[in-house]
Amino acid sequence: MCGIVGYTGKLNAVEVVLSGLRKLEYRGYDSAGIAMLHDCSMDVLRAVGRVDALARKTANISYVPHNAIGHTRWASHGRPSEINAHPHCDNTGQIAVVHNGIVENYSTLRSELLQSGAKFLSETDTEVAAVLIGHLYKGNLVEAVIQATQRFEGTFALGVVCIDHPDMIVGARRGPPLAVGAADDGAMMLASDALPILPYTRNVCYLEDNQIVALQPGKMELYANGVQIEARLQKICWTAEESERGGYRHYMLKEIYEQPAVLRRLAANLVANAGSLSPVSPPTFNLDNFPLNNDALRKLSRVVIVAQGTAFHAGLIGRNMIERTVRIPVSVEYGSDFQYRDPVIDPSVLVISVSQSGETADTLGAVRLAKERGCTTLAIINTVGSTIARESHGVIYMHAGLEIGVASTKAFTAQIAALYVLAIHIGLQRGTLSDADAVRRVADLLQVASRVDEALACAEQVKAVALKYKDSANALFLGRGTGFPLALEGALKLKEISYVHAEGYDAAEMKHGPIALIDERMPVIVLALKGRRYDKIISNIQEVKARGGRVIVIASHDDTEIADKVDDVIRVHDDRGIMNSIVCAIPFQLFAYEIAVARNCDVDKPRNLAKSLTIE
Ligand code: AGP
Repeated sequence: MCGIVGYTGKLNAVEVVLSGLRKLEYRGYDSAGIAMLHDCSMDVLRAVGRVDALARKTANISYVPHNAIGHTRWASHGRPSEINAHPHCDNTGQIAVVHNGIVENYSTLRSELLQSGAKFLSETDTEVAAVLIGHLYKGNLVEAVIQATQRFEGTFALGVVCIDHPDMIVGARRGPPLAVGAADDGAMMLASDALPILPYTRNVCYLEDNQIVALQPGKMELYANGVQIEARLQKICWTAEESERGGYRHYMLKEIYEQPAVLRRLAANLVANAGSLSPVSPPTFNLDNFPLNNDALRKLSRVVIVAQGTAFHAGLIGRNMIERTVRIPVSVEYGSDFQYRDPVIDPSVLVISVSQSGETADTLGAVRLAKERGCTTLAIINTVGSTIARESHGVIYMHAGLEIGVASTKAFTAQIAALYVLAIHIGLQRGTLSDADAVRRVADLLQVASRVDEALACAEQVKAVALKYKDSANALFLGRGTGFPLALEGALKLKEISYVHAEGYDAAEMKHGPIALIDERMPVIVLALKGRRYDKIISNIQEVKARGGRVIVIASHDDTEIADKVDDVIRVHDDRGIMNSIVCAIPFQLFAYEIAVARNCDVDKPRNLAKSLTIE
């Protein structure tokens, strides 16, 4: 996703902005640029590729600017190029704009502006925004931005500067997030998220949709629908250290190893009486502002989970959890489809969104539709203060901490754990889960972090297996039951960071087509833990082996039969419960990581990908 950083204050604005853009690199991008104001003039520099390429260009400036806006671009309109990189200027060259989102009516606006004599250099919607702001500017920059954004259809997070206002940055937001930081020394910052602001202040205000802010050193004016309102700053809890790699080679590896701590923190945050559990003292949960009381929970007709990508896979596991404890139908939907399919939902349906960033446009659109139809919406979110969290009736935070690696790992296992807590809570409230069973389930949750520790201890073994298959062009992941969403997740991890074509399938589905792919060049990774469907999985493995396939299994610690049937075995401690879904995710994450590293891929910033998809 595109990244925005703006700074106005006493420091060297170029240094602050470039450093901030580097902290946003995890979002994924293909070019970068900066606009610097000084002595009533402005320079704009842009470069294709990494922020370092832009930094080399700024090294030649002969002054120290104290007001600058910068941008990392993830190409949506127009190919990655210097001419399409942001900032874009109006026709006078006095106004520069950086933008995240899509102005969907940009071609209409472009035609109108062309008729009034405007000129365009690029193919981007952002340049249209800049030219329109310049066209409307009559001396009041805030007013020009208000009028222009009222013409925009679609989404935007904007940063705008103007030569006439050498210490001012104007921000505007509809859709993609935009945060404002107010430092103790009076400096003001604008950024796509809190990360670039962290080193200077923790006092942050997240703009709401259709809000506009004017920043000058020591001064912040916030406008909602054109009317000035009070700005409320909040303290962000992340530390700057969390945003560092902490000695790990990649953020993704750090986040894989953070999972035991995340799971312990999540359990400690969500389980109110973990220390005094007993069959006569059932678990209670810290679910602040839970949007449904017991009566409403008992009237629930069904649950819909909406999510994308990895969060969708967590949702599939959550479906099994909730159906087992709550005994009502649960469906899992891609938000991208749900919001446009005119789904059959009503106020008796609980719509649960699952999202690490809390900004995924596809998921947000589904939540907004559910609210329009009178459904109660509950969000399971990692990013505090994010849009989906703020727009839902209730939110359960995962407490996974900052996840910087584009490939989601600790957020995935935290999502599963949060859905597990929700399933227990609703089951208890509806009376479909006994106290004793709830105690047993919470005990599994409290133990799962230790099982993850054990799985991480096998990292070297996983690496040895992964390196045997690092040159495969394809891979198949198979599983049954909860193993199927894990197979989907394992395939997604491998494909998104190593660019190997990998597919996840329900193992039962193999004979309905995918088995045609099997030969000695196709590694097949199978989730084969002991359980009700173990024998069927063994049959699937034998079908693959009979056709020359090479089989790697994730197997139970106490399975003494399987080794003779396959090529490689990776064992996990199997407690025969659904918390295995968290434990089995670890070897998949490590498997994908080791292959990506062996293939010299950019693990934290995979090509074409972004950490948060705030556009549809
Ligand atoms: C996961 O590794 C991917 N980066 C991607 O599928 C991600 O899970 C998806 O875009 C949803 O993001 P969210 O959890 O922030 O909504």
